[in-house]
Amino acid sequence: MALEVQRAGADVKPTLTDQDVLDFCRTGFLLLEGVIPDSTNRWVFEHLDREDAQPNQLVTDARFVEEVLLHPEVAGAVRSLLGQNFQLPDWMANHRLVGPVPAARWHVDGGSGFERLCNLLQVFYLPQENTKEVGPTLFLPGSHIVPIAREELDHFGHLAGQVATVAPAGSVFVTAYSIWHRQSEKRDQSVRNMLKWEFWRTVPPRRDWVVDPDFDFASADYSYTNDYFCGATRKWQSVPRVAEMFYWLCGKSDDFHMVGGSGWPFSASDPGIRAKSP
Ligand SMILES: [Fe+2]
Repeated sequence: MALEVQRAGADVKPTLTDQDVLDFCRTGFLLLEGVIPDSTNRWVFEHLDREDAQPNQLVTDARFVEEVLLHPEVAGAVRSLLGQNFQLPDWMANHRLVGPVPAARWHVDGGSGFERLCNLLQVFYLPQENTKEVGPTLFLPGSHIVPIAREELDHFGHLAGQVATVAPAGSVFVTAYSIWHRQSEKRDQSVRNMLKWEFWRTVPPRRDWVVDPDFDFASADYSYTNDYFCGATRKWQSVPRVAEMFYWLCGKSDDFHMVGGSGWPFSASDPGIRAKSP
């Protein structure tokens, strides 16, 4: 029997502001720290620890849908980035690790296109505390719009700028699908459960999150840098990609025009050379 796909209702309210959405375009990564209550974390962990556990069943479990998938902080962030009536997952994976496990390789998941748009989100939920001993996933913020061949990523080891998902129980990570990531080495004897799924867009993008009337498209900072994407060249490479993604999310793709040279959007964070914005 085909699984009936569920969508978020009209009661789900967006929680992210213009700046929050722009920051997601810059990093491809959003941490909702410890938002799911301990009472939920406990029953989910116990459910996953049963011998006959089938994580996929959680997508049709009304309690899980209400307490995790539609938790106001989780659904509010997703509603901001994917619009109204976003599609809930029809599958769920548990990235379960038992005892010491070597690190996995850097990769992007199948189908990653590094597009400057946002039609789906990859989400991770930690029903237990993630210490650096339990093999937390590593992400490279800003990498979601930097095309790379998967076989090239295979050769990477420690990357300056990588972020480990060390976080308390109940934390949720919302990520752009194409972000570079890997599981780090698990060093202890414990059992680590981590759920992963995707949410999908069902409506065209538009700027219907928490709009800030003072947000200025002309002067917003569209650049992103960290210890990996460092130096002037790499920092400025991010600018057109981030700006294009943000305009797409606003439903303003038709208004996105690079003026060329050092003009907008390159000039946005440098008032000394500011040119006209679209
Ligand atoms: Fe992956």
